[in-house]
Amino acid sequence: MDFGLQGKKAIVLAASKGLGKAAAEALASEGCALAICARNAEPLQKTARAINKQYQVPVFTGTVDIHDKTNLESFLEESIGKMGGVDILVTNAGGPPVKGFEETTDEEWAYWYEITFMGVVRSIRKVLPHMKKQKFGRIINITSISVKAPVERLIYSNALRLAVVGLAKSLSAELGPLGITVNNVAPGYHLTDGLERIVRKRVEGGESREAVFAQWENKIPIRRIGRPEDLAFLIAFLASERASYITGTTIQVDGGLYSGTL
Ligand SMILES: NC(=O)c1ccc[n+]([C@@H]2O[C@H](COP(=O)([O-])OP(=O)(O)OC[C@H]3O[C@@H](n4cnc5c(N)ncnc54)[C@H](OP(=O)(O)O)[C@@H]3O)[C@@H](O)[C@H]2O)c1
Repeated sequence: MDFGLQGKKAIVLAASKGLGKAAAEALASEGCALAICARNAEPLQKTARAINKQYQVPVFTGTVDIHDKTNLESFLEESIGKMGGVDILVTNAGGPPVKGFEETTDEEWAYWYEITFMGVVRSIRKVLPHMKKQKFGRIINITSISVKAPVERLIYSNALRLAVVGLAKSLSAELGPLGITVNNVAPGYHLTDGLERIVRKRVEGGESREAVFAQWENKIPIRRIGRPEDLAFLIAFLASERASYITGTTIQVDGGLYSGTL
């Protein structure tokens, strides 16, 4: 299927590794120019070079901490300037730590609110004038399966990500008449450095690596951990011309893990 993405301009946040990187690759493979960011310059440059080499699309980079408002906003402005516009925004960031409620602090709640929610708000605010002017835009937020069902000991993710879902649904009504769609994707378990950190934490707590994976895989009807590209294919589709009638949704990519009917 031709996704109609050739020559479109996409910003993908937190994209040197993992799900963000896979989203950037999927968009590049469809012919999008890219602007990607992360905090650490070296892996970011490596990813940018690899994508540019493989897909022959321009890849702009910014060393950005999404927690830093000025840093994030400058990156967005510069990216839009360098690409000559923006058609697609994929929001993403590092995930909050594994914590139960009684381990949380006000400082951490505020920190993860800034990253998980305000990072999305600020990014959308920057791309919106451009998308409105051209009467076309695709906003896709990478959230988590935790928005469908809370994940044990991921209290920050379980609570804060629902604000993103509420924001996206509200915006879909406001922005639909302007040709801009807003959707969330909700990954289950995908093999990335981020997931490896959760595995390490459980191994430190006394479980074996094999037991952790076996426990997850047995709960997943497709019986395997996801690959980053399993999520990225959906992101590329939602970014495409073909998805112009899909907005305000939250779609899980979890091998069937979520057990609710709707
Ligand atoms: N993998 C899964 O199974 C899964 C499932 C559900 C939800 N998620 C969520 O999806 C998101 C991505 O997960 P992942 O597994 O791909 O993580 P990952 O493998 O750790 O990759 C995270 C990426 O984000 C960048 N990053 C992290 N914090 C950042 C910040 N403050 N500012 C800018 N860039 C930042 C990292 O680069 P730097 O470290 O250099 O900044 C890296 O490129 C997370 O929010 C995670 O909780 C993941």
